[in-house]
Amino acid sequence: MRSPDDPALFFRLHVFICTNRRPDDNKRGSCAGRGSEVLREHLKDATKSMGLGDIRINSAGCLDRCGHGPVMVIYPEGVWYSFHTIADIDEILDTHIVKGGRVARLMVDQD
Ligand code: FES
Repeated sequence: MRSPDDPALFFRLHVFICTNRRPDDNKRGSCAGRGSEVLREHLKDATKSMGLGDIRINSAGCLDRCGHGPVMVIYPEGVWYSFHTIADIDEILDTHIVKGGRVARLMVDQD
């Protein structure tokens, strides 16, 4: 929870996308092994081309929700998404990042 004494947010939204990669034979798998790097690049390029300078798209190491991967978390809301396609990314971009809504079908349940 933010305090009234906290400084203003530096970024309106801060998106962390797991790009951790494990060896192909690792039983846990990894988000990069499931395509997260290309999908992150797509989101980064899209926000840049739309001039969304107050949105930061960062690569992250393992976010410890590997079973839902690829995953991202968007702050300050703390909303997690599991995504697999460019269409998923575009829907998160339009619905959540631009319009402030939620893509319920891609949200990771709290567990
Ligand atoms: S490898 Fe992505 S959350 Fe663990």
